Amino acid sequence: MDERKDIIILGIESSCDDTSAAVIKNGILLSNVTASQAVHEAYGGVVPELASRAHQQNIVPVVDQALKRAGVKREQLSAIAFTRGPGLIGSLHVGVSFAKGMAASLNIPMIEVNHLQGHILAHFIKESEDDTNLPKFPFLCLLVSGGNSQIVLVKAYNDMEIIGQTIDDAAGEAIDKCSKVMGLGYPGGPIIDRLARQGNPEAYQFAKPNIPGYDYSFSGLKTSFLYNLRDWIKTDPDFIEHHKEDLAASLEKTIVDILMKKLLKAAKDLKIRQVAVAGGVSANTGIRNAFLQCHEKYHWKIFIPKFSYTTDNAGMIAIAGYFKYRDGDFCPMEKPPYSRVSMA
Ligand code: KG4
Repeated sequence: MDERKDIIILGIESSCDDTSAAVIKNGILLSNVTASQAVHEAYGGVVPELASRAHQQNIVPVVDQALKRAGVKREQLSAIAFTRGPGLIGSLHVGVSFAKGMAASLNIPMIEVNHLQGHILAHFIKESEDDTNLPKFPFLCLLVSGGNSQIVLVKAYNDMEIIGQTIDDAAGEAIDKCSKVMGLGYPGGPIIDRLARQGNPEAYQFAKPNIPGYDYSFSGLKTSFLYNLRDWIKTDPDFIEHHKEDLAASLEKTIVDILMKKLLKAAKDLKIRQVAVAGGVSANTGIRNAFLQCHEKYHWKIFIPKFSYTTDNAGMIAIAGYFKYRDGDFCPMEKPPYSRVSMA
């Protein structure tokens, strides 16, 4: 390809507690560098002010590394794509301000990316020209993270419709809170996943929601988990220690059952058999196995992300930016970040 026609996008992600930068050239990932923030572990959750400060420390070296690993000079960049929201406002400000400064100094366009759309478009990241197993439109995506649980009908790169979402807690939030109640570490997802592999998923029953349509609810499950645990601890003070594997396996099964029930309904109603999963909770073994079962049973063509694309990363922001660049969809310098809004 003519060097001048190459589209080279720098992606920047800073919506929560991961500072990430990635370079994508003509749709192929050249680098994806992420600095995670261990500082929050001691607090059992992300502390926004600490996250902003850590982003400030990390952003320059992370972007520098991403460019170096990609073998790309700043002057070669076509545009800078950045997460505009949703997320923690202070954290977003760091990435957005950095992107603005860099784009202004290089006199190149800026591209705003919705973080949630980025998670979905991560399925289009190619690591080489040979990567051809990509979803075709329309497809469904189960987007499950610490802050969101949605079923999204993806009609095109730039046309997505949320057809169902949680009316209270997100799936990841429920896992993290139940894990906290059990006195396990933060984030709870990977710990529950590891324990669940050694437990009996049928050992305990927890409340499942009964709401219409494709929406989710996880607050009832969380309360039922807490109240049951309180009762069991009354008779055995070491109940958690004695049964943590069974508790984790039963909790995971309940959450996966809730998620899959609505997703199956949506796939059946809309007659769509291409189904993807995205977001932090898509790293979960139980949900991955449930997708594999749907592939066997219902002949779904399934798209399960590599582990490196399940967590927040700038590769997904850069690929979303790449598609927007092709459409000439740039954003003005004065646009501020936004903390809420599910799908812009
Ligand atoms: O998308 P993400 O990295 O960022 C947020 O939205 O915050 O998702 C983080 C969530 C956390 O709730 C975490 O516990 C969960 O993803 N998670 C998992 C696993 N790995 C991360 N949940 C279940 N099983 C896992 N293996």
